Amino acid sequence: MKRPEDLRSHRWFGGDEVRDFSHRARARQLGLNAEEHLGKPVIAILNTWSGINPCHMHLRERAEQVSRGVWQAGGFPVEFPVATLSETYQKPTPMLYRNLLAMETEEVLRSYPVDGAVLMGGCDKSTPALVMGAASADVPAVFVPAGPMLRGHWRDQVLGSGTDMWKYWDDRRAGLIGDAEMSEIEAGLARSPGTCMTMGTASTMTSAVEAMGLSLPGSAAIPAVDSAHHRMAAASGRRVVDMVWEDLKPSHILTADAFADAITTVLALGGSTNSVIHLIAMAGRVGVKVGLDDFDRIARRVPVLADVRPGGEHLMEDFYYAGGVPGLLSRLVELDLLACDRVVATGRTLREELAGARVHNDAVIRPVSSPLAAEGGLAVLRGNLAPGGAVIKHIAAEAHLLTHTGPAVVFDGYADLKKRINDPSLGVTKESVLVLRGVGPLGGPGMPEYGMLPIPDRLLAEGVRDMVRVSDSRMSGTSYGACVLHVAPESFVGGPLALVRTGDLIRLDVPARELVLEVGEEELQRRRAEWVAPEPRYERGYGALYAAHITQADEGCDFDFLARPGVNPEPDPR
Ligand code: FES
Ligand code: MG
Repeated sequence: MKRPEDLRSHRWFGGDEVRDFSHRARARQLGLNAEEHLGKPVIAILNTWSGINPCHMHLRERAEQVSRGVWQAGGFPVEFPVATLSETYQKPTPMLYRNLLAMETEEVLRSYPVDGAVLMGGCDKSTPALVMGAASADVPAVFVPAGPMLRGHWRDQVLGSGTDMWKYWDDRRAGLIGDAEMSEIEAGLARSPGTCMTMGTASTMTSAVEAMGLSLPGSAAIPAVDSAHHRMAAASGRRVVDMVWEDLKPSHILTADAFADAITTVLALGGSTNSVIHLIAMAGRVGVKVGLDDFDRIARRVPVLADVRPGGEHLMEDFYYAGGVPGLLSRLVELDLLACDRVVATGRTLREELAGARVHNDAVIRPVSSPLAAEGGLAVLRGNLAPGGAVIKHIAAEAHLLTHTGPAVVFDGYADLKKRINDPSLGVTKESVLVLRGVGPLGGPGMPEYGMLPIPDRLLAEGVRDMVRVSDSRMSGTSYGACVLHVAPESFVGGPLALVRTGDLIRLDVPARELVLEVGEEELQRRRAEWVAPEPRYERGYGALYAAHITQADEGCDFDFLARPGVNPEPDPR
């Protein structure tokens, strides 16, 4: 147990030097009497609220409930506004800025008199960013997930954000509905604050973080506007104060077992492929070795149990009522797939936390005897086209495409794709393999979610719904199809994807985990010698820093100088 004089913040407030005096005087300026804060753990509430982030629009108010909990437990809450990563509005993609928020998180926690932290986020990349930063700073921390929005509604239809956006847009293009219907749908698709309510990247990552043990049990699925969300926020604030006294830090919670369980959870959820990159990056911060092959190995024994869109039928609100993450984990315990003796944020073991966990609706969280799919939804491919690996969410693909050889149709970047995909002279057939390159971590930049390349209109009209697609980009958690993603190394740095020419045969063999360019090594050598590296994307600023230090997808796309544990000197507040 720590004593008040052991607190980090004591070095700012507790001594008898002129700086301590100044820090105390400025706390009076903040409107606080000495007895209100001296000797109490300072809890930083890192808030990613912004007026332009609809997924986080309730977090400004929710921070008040966190503060309430911190005060109740004898802490001193201090809110820090940090960068917001809005999946909807930030371009070219918030993935470009994940590491910026991670750096900001780490440095705020390091440079201020902070003893513990509450991390408030949820919209896709904000979750890994906050966890990466807090893990590197290694101060006691609880993650408060923003929570999913309520189910969407239009007339008698239930709407899922993301998935139904595409569906109704296509209906309008086809003339099935008009502008009046469209504006009703516009108002019903995302009808409350909160993150996407399908099993996209947001709920995949907040569920993974809960499974790791950095959120209070049961947090991730609570709808953003439910009163339970207010109560969870206050409870998180109360708990982190005790974590400070107990000195329970991320480095104690984020063990190799915790990451293995997070991967297991993601796979049982049929979660987003983006989680592969994020979990590798998060593990790197604490020195846990997680690689692509861990996902493939674990995927072979984990059934998909969550029947939630886009892989299944239901939405996050249903998943919450069905028992949420604890319900899902209770089923994984039946299969003996979790390391239950590890400690979580409550200070208790996962086993203790799951003792009362139940599933209340077998249609939403399937029993282990009738899973949605017997094997996890993810496979890792290798071969001469992806020496560093690539991933495919094979449960989301048409089965006949999982072993397929076809001629490549190559696009260089998204603009080229948009310009030519419906060009009658493209010579594309349903056997073709659509290749998009120049959209990786450096090429994109930031690996935008272009990986679900559109099926050409002519083939769509013929009834083709899926094709093999290969790219060095990512795919939205709400997308589907035989899309090979995250090809590493990317074409921008001269990976073999850069050498593909239209007409080359590409072989995909998911059972054998292979992705092969059927071109002889001699010919590839010749093409490699001719290859000209593209011009850098950025001349200056953050983009130039990003370009100089970003790692490839198989390494988590962290910055090389951040992707390891290590201790920086503590600032001397005096
Ligand atoms: Fe924020 Fe989907 S846009 S979670
Ligand atoms: Mg998304």
